[in-house]
Amino acid sequence: MSDFQPPRVIVCTGVNCKAAGCGQRIYRRLEALLAEADPLRPPFLLRTANCLDMCGDGPNMVIYPGNRRYNHLDEDAAEAIVRAAAAPEVGRL
Ligand code: FES
Repeated sequence: MSDFQPPRVIVCTGVNCKAAGCGQRIYRRLEALLAEADPLRPPFLLRTANCLDMCGDGPNMVIYPGNRRYNHLDEDAAEAIVRAAAAPEVGRL
């Protein structure tokens, strides 16, 4: 049995990130990735935030543990980051 603890991925869907390229699209991409996984063993936990206090650098995302901050994201970059953070669990998709 794995002791893997799924990272928490927080995607900003606030107004400034929306204006910068839409955190909502990033959220939907990651939601689709999560939908492919075993719901009993999620490779990551996905949440939204109204603001991550990095408005000038959006779209933004934070991954815990580690408070890892990612800026100027698009859907492809966010997916690649989350796949790496959640490996090896997402690698099974
Ligand atoms: S609106 Fe996204 S960081 Fe503030």
